[in-house]
Amino acid sequence: MNALDHVALQGGGKVITLEQFIIERQAEFPYATGELSRLLRDIGLAAKIINREVNKAGLVDILGITGEQNIHGEDVRKLDVFANRELIRALSRGGECCVIASEEEKDILFVPGSTGKYIVLIDPLDGSSNIDANVTIGTIFSVYRRRSQEDSPEALRRDVLQPGNRQVAAGYVVYGSSTMLVYTTGHGVNGFTLDPSIGEFLLSHPSIQIPKRGKIYSINQGYFRFWEAGMQRYIEYLQEEDKSTGRPYSLRYVGTLVADVHRTLLYGGIFLYPASRKDPRGKLRLMYEANPMAFIIEQAGGRATDGRRRILDIEPESLHERTPLILGSEADVLEVERFLQEAERTAL
Ligand code: AHG
Ligand code: MN
Ligand code: MN
Repeated sequence: MNALDHVALQGGGKVITLEQFIIERQAEFPYATGELSRLLRDIGLAAKIINREVNKAGLVDILGITGEQNIHGEDVRKLDVFANRELIRALSRGGECCVIASEEEKDILFVPGSTGKYIVLIDPLDGSSNIDANVTIGTIFSVYRRRSQEDSPEALRRDVLQPGNRQVAAGYVVYGSSTMLVYTTGHGVNGFTLDPSIGEFLLSHPSIQIPKRGKIYSINQGYFRFWEAGMQRYIEYLQEEDKSTGRPYSLRYVGTLVADVHRTLLYGGIFLYPASRKDPRGKLRLMYEANPMAFIIEQAGGRATDGRRRILDIEPESLHERTPLILGSEADVLEVERFLQEAERTAL
């Protein structure tokens, strides 16, 4: 019996690394020149470096706040700064990316001397308020191809503000009980779990499909009184008892978008960050939170809207603009849309 037979006998399951998977799937891209593959590998590398810091954040002086505020007026935490710097470094070094936009940067960053064709938008550290409590946090990325050939800053600035339906890739890293990288290039959704003993992301969740309906809803219930009437009625409806429709639903809310979306993707159900009197445009950012998550959820067979419009069809006006976000199992998202429409009709 030779060595390969031994491998085949040990559990049989083929171990596929993120790198191998990307290369094997490379042929799926219309412009399979390997550049997008290299870009995804660069992001995977940054994720491993960030993961190493996240795992020892409690031990080194990387917890806590820097004392500065970002452009959104939010406390900047040391891990935000670290994650932002590592991703910018990895994306700049790879050479595939000509422009980077980050939640942590007021304006877009032009990668000096790059002839790359890709634009990457990042939320380097999602769920910052949860860092010091050791609660799951994440990283989100969204990738576009540049549209113009012109090298001017104005042309590149226009190229950053593309609707989500033009993304060529999107994904997230969830730093939880294990660290996972989940991404799509428009050919389904695949999940990779980091094996720290070999420092590789291994394919663990091939071709993820979200259940058509779930039994979990995820929302910050504390803002109930700020929501529109239709949203209030929908959330009260979910809490009524009716076995035939699986109600009452359970409420699960981590307060880290990546964690709440990852659970919704795997278990089904609905995540909602609606508009409110407090946040008329909602809180989540369209370009580097809502769009990438909407692309992933749709590719897994789910639905993502702002309550009225498909997220991926929203024409962006500014880099850091916010949008209400409702995503998850198709039947659940369609149901809340009916409540919102009904409430509008009766209000007229
Ligand atoms: P970030 O840490 O990147 O600013 O994102 C935080 C977001 C998102 O992760 C989460 O869904 C939402 O904030 C939670 O907001 P509330 O605390 O208002 O519920
Ligand atoms: Mn975020
Ligand atoms: Mn963030």
